[in-house]
Amino acid sequence: MNGNPIADLRERAVTVLRANDRGGYTVPAAGLYPFQWNWDSCLVALGWACFDEARAWREIETLFAAQWPDGMVPHIVFHRDDPGYFPGPGVWATGREPASSGITQPPVAASCVRWMLERARDRTAALAAARRLFPKLLAWHAWFHSVRDPEGRGFVVTVHPWETGMDNSPAWDAPLAAVTPPPDLLPYERRDLAHVEAAQRPTRAEYDRYMTLVQLFRELAYDPAEMVTRSPFLVVDPATNAILLRADRDLAALAETLGERAVLPGIRRWIRRAETALPRLLADPGSGLWQAFDLRAGRRIGVRTHAGFLAFLAGLGDDRMADGLESWAAASRFALSSVAPSDPTFDRRRYWRGPVWPVTNFLIGRGLEESGRSRLARRLRRDTAALVARGGFREYFDPLDGTGLGGSGFGWTAAVWLAWVDQPERDRGPDEASDPPK
Ligand code: GLC
Repeated sequence: MNGNPIADLRERAVTVLRANDRGGYTVPAAGLYPFQWNWDSCLVALGWACFDEARAWREIETLFAAQWPDGMVPHIVFHRDDPGYFPGPGVWATGREPASSGITQPPVAASCVRWMLERARDRTAALAAARRLFPKLLAWHAWFHSVRDPEGRGFVVTVHPWETGMDNSPAWDAPLAAVTPPPDLLPYERRDLAHVEAAQRPTRAEYDRYMTLVQLFRELAYDPAEMVTRSPFLVVDPATNAILLRADRDLAALAETLGERAVLPGIRRWIRRAETALPRLLADPGSGLWQAFDLRAGRRIGVRTHAGFLAFLAGLGDDRMADGLESWAAASRFALSSVAPSDPTFDRRRYWRGPVWPVTNFLIGRGLEESGRSRLARRLRRDTAALVARGGFREYFDPLDGTGLGGSGFGWTAAVWLAWVDQPERDRGPDEASDPPK
């Protein structure tokens, strides 16, 4: 500690990543999340890259070592079992080595690889790592665009709320309510409530439905096409789709850098299709905000969650969305609440139903910065800084009073601090270069 609060936080962020390091992968939070999570790992690598590039590349390579032969990259890799977490490898029973879950998560990997390559101090090592990862990234994207978009409609489908990374979002209430737990739902015991207060976690009824879907997928032996055909939960998630579109753009940039030109026309086709399909399917006509679409019910889900603002990350944000974001941010002391404060489902302390998530502030903030909306981006960055400075590297925060919630010593919160909040000026817009956190 040197008495400079920002430098202290940098050191503390490094300490969090080192403490969560299990040798080649980083757990999101000791206790609560004791394995390797897909999008956590990729984003955590951005934090590692700020002080140990070799370790950062290793994080992503360890994740891709668990890629399935068909290209899918699982949402959790169980490198070693831990009785403190449910559902663990025995419940998923995917029969993979290393053991993993049988569903995926938002594909941020290609974007993180590009980010790391472009900022690498050791360019030679970075190019070698990017070259090793490139075919694996391509295979994962190809899996999304074929298995999860079998008709080539320009959007990918999601079969479980956990695949969206925003597990308990109120956007999933209606499609989840249509999932009926079978009479033979296997009994189970949750472990999350041993770590975090029940009021900040999903309810029993929701958990029964999460497990109903897991049980179905297991019965289908994780056949990817059958999962799409048979899942009673089938949605088009704005976050997954915006992140994939962005990642396709980054994959194309990587292909250029690495001289992999032959694959460019295919990637560009994915991009063009998504650019046309996503606004058409997801944009709410009134506000322009992207909202999830329930394919089983055949309608857009009218809940206003921050997932829609990831359109900025995908390069498809517009002024109407920016105006909406501005008033949304103005309605709480700390931005950006995961659900609009004026939405009837807003719940300031419950998981994905209102709290601020530093990691989504980062992803939305980057999109805003890149589209020249630096004032709004600054609001997100400053609020993230203020929340972490007050409450530490927590999983999420109350948007009204800033209370830190969920897990502590959280990996991606520390990474977001290192890679974004406490970034050198070259990554910022012109009017915010020397902006101190509030
Ligand atoms: C929760 C979050 C998910 C995250 C995981 C580990 O399940 O909803 O997005 O990947 O925790 O942090």
